[in-house]
Amino acid sequence: MKTRSPPSTSREGVEVDDFDPLEIDGRWQQMDVKSSGESNSRLSRRSALLLAAALAMVTASLFVGHGSLGSDVDDERVAPIRGTAYLSRDEFKDVRTARAGESVLLTGGLGFIGSHVADLLLHRGFEVTIMDDESNGHNHNEFCQEMVPNNITVVDDFPSFPNTGDDTTQFTHVVHLAAAISVAESMANPVKYENINYGGSEKVINWISEYNKHAGSAGATKVRKLVAASSAAIYGDQPKLLPLQESAPYGGISPYADTKYRMEGLMKSFVEGQNNDGVAEPVSAVALRFFNVFGPRQDPHNPYSGGSIRRRTANCCSFPPTYSHFATQTSGVISLFLEAALTGKDITILGDGAMTRDFVFVKVRQCPVHPACSASSLTIRKDVARAIVLALLQDVKGDASFDVYNVCTGKSITINTLAGQVKQSMDSNSKITHLDPREGDIRESSCNPKGASDGILFKSAVSQEVGLEKTAAWFREDQGRRSRT
Ligand SMILES: NC(=O)c1ccc[n+]([C@@H]2O[C@H](COP(=O)([O-])OP(=O)(O)OC[C@H]3O[C@@H](n4cnc5c(N)ncnc54)[C@H](O)[C@@H]3O)[C@@H](O)[C@H]2O)c1
Ligand SMILES: *[C@@H]1O[C@H](CO)[C@@H](O)[C@H](O)[C@H]1NC(C)=O
Repeated sequence: MKTRSPPSTSREGVEVDDFDPLEIDGRWQQMDVKSSGESNSRLSRRSALLLAAALAMVTASLFVGHGSLGSDVDDERVAPIRGTAYLSRDEFKDVRTARAGESVLLTGGLGFIGSHVADLLLHRGFEVTIMDDESNGHNHNEFCQEMVPNNITVVDDFPSFPNTGDDTTQFTHVVHLAAAISVAESMANPVKYENINYGGSEKVINWISEYNKHAGSAGATKVRKLVAASSAAIYGDQPKLLPLQESAPYGGISPYADTKYRMEGLMKSFVEGQNNDGVAEPVSAVALRFFNVFGPRQDPHNPYSGGSIRRRTANCCSFPPTYSHFATQTSGVISLFLEAALTGKDITILGDGAMTRDFVFVKVRQCPVHPACSASSLTIRKDVARAIVLALLQDVKGDASFDVYNVCTGKSITINTLAGQVKQSMDSNSKITHLDPREGDIRESSCNPKGASDGILFKSAVSQEVGLEKTAAWFREDQGRRSRT
């Protein structure tokens, strides 16, 4: 069953630090937003301030559209969100702006990584349609997009084909990030991972294939590129092969790794099938094997239990105020440590802490419109989100291609080092303690970033230290926000 999410408040922010008057093209596009109630008036005051600041710097105008998305429960169409294509200095330089009609279907767009990808695409003027079942996402993305809850395992939930009904939404790109993400949970509940990570990916790929068949006859745009999230988990523990290159064999030791690797297989056969069949304008695909991604909005509480489902709150920029603790030492360890340091709890390391990981930063544009944020926090740093968008926008000529890239920094640190850094970044009195190691945890992990640097021109630009600083700042602000609401 599909229902619309409660209306969210939204508007766009202004990137004060990155605002480059010389590059402004004066084309502040209208964006689909919802407005409502109290928080809107607070945001309006904030936007008025930001607008004044922007106008003082350049004579560009800013439009905020209102209510163009209906809140009608019967309206089951998936509404795209339009971006603002505003240009900024330096950090966005390598990601081009949208060309006419470019429109992205983004699964998992409410999640930690997905929300940053949505922001980045919207900034570059892309139309974005989010598909997320809200099982783990919070919709604290900065545009606070309205979206329709959709489950990637149900094909009926997909946007209709361009020649059916009155839905005129067309797509040119697909980013597939929706997944169940806990290695440990996958051990306990492999069926869930089979259904969502493998079955869901199969649905996404089949949908693209069907969509493109219909698009041709309907005169609609075709999807030309699919980028999907794979994982370093597929390498497993292969100390002799460090630093890991894409050519390393499969060594996964969990259903999570298995389903991600088989998803890559689906992508590969999809691409090869099109080439063999001589499909015109075929879809190319890229699987990105993320190492340990960290940054703002990462939920310190991985979904171990499968118990309570977190819903986004009325204030879409904040976490729900309470949630319980689950320890993980892989993804999420930085957010877990930061939260412990912030709240004065013990920073608990599972094992001796000598294990190494490559931590790669997601992206930050800290809380641009929230009243709790100061103008000084408006800075942008990004890595993983940029890698995804670079892979997405890379042109392919001729036959379709399938590529796999690691997304990492190339520098690993120990968990002990990390714990010390976290403590320092929070100026915290937390004790660093050790518990038994978790079974199945890999000792050494390190990554060779050369493939992505050659293939999609992605080089990590945010050091782990700077990323940590940004993430710590976000956690402090988020804590402040939570205690006020
Ligand atoms: N965070 C990391 O360090 C890391 C490392 C390797 C790979 N990855 C991969 O990157 C992707 C994004 O991870 P993340 O860290 O942002 O996790 P996340 O849980 O924050 O995001 C995943 C999103 O997918 C949604 N989702 C889950 N099941 C769904 C379903 N059946 N239908 C629709 N939506 C569904 C969730 O609600 C959530 O918003 C995942 O595919 C994950 O496996 C992440
Ligand atoms: C989406 O479907 C999967 C299995 O197909 C299920 O496990 C999950 O709970 C569903 N999501 C929601 C929010 O109902």
